[in-house]
Amino acid sequence: SLFGELKNEAERLLAGPGGVAQRLQAVCDLLCLRVGHYDWVGFYLVGSTEGILELGPFHGKPTDHVSIPFGKGVCGQAAARRKTIIVQDVAGETNYLSCSPDVRAEIVIPLFRGDEIIGELDIDSHEISPFTDEDRELLEAISRAAEKIL
Ligand code: SME
Repeated sequence: SLFGELKNEAERLLAGPGGVAQRLQAVCDLLCLRVGHYDWVGFYLVGSTEGILELGPFHGKPTDHVSIPFGKGVCGQAAARRKTIIVQDVAGETNYLSCSPDVRAEIVIPLFRGDEIIGELDIDSHEISPFTDEDRELLEAISRAAEKIL
């Protein structure tokens, strides 16, 4: 299956050669290019400032949201609630930071080191209700692999 192949390929890229940023970038490129309903794929990483998500490698249009406090937007909520958030229609989400008017849905998976949030994998879609359990399982598996190199 496509998702089975993508999981293996992403895990291979993450464990492979190159710097961390380069490997995360390769995963963003892979996912965004191969999955039709992924229109922006990026990592946010917690840097030197506690409680702030900073934009890391991404594939898609540049976003104004390069620095997001925990709690703010869908990204900030996933960090604050410490769990995957799926918004199937952003029109119904009040705590949302719009990157592009084309975006209709979003999934965000928090990344952990032990109990600590160290970043997130964030995906935007131009379709309404595009995300299934298959997406969640793929993206959570990739997130577990990304945590190992962060
Ligand atoms: N929509 C996100 C902001 C990040 S962009 O999607 C890349 C949010 O509400 O947190």
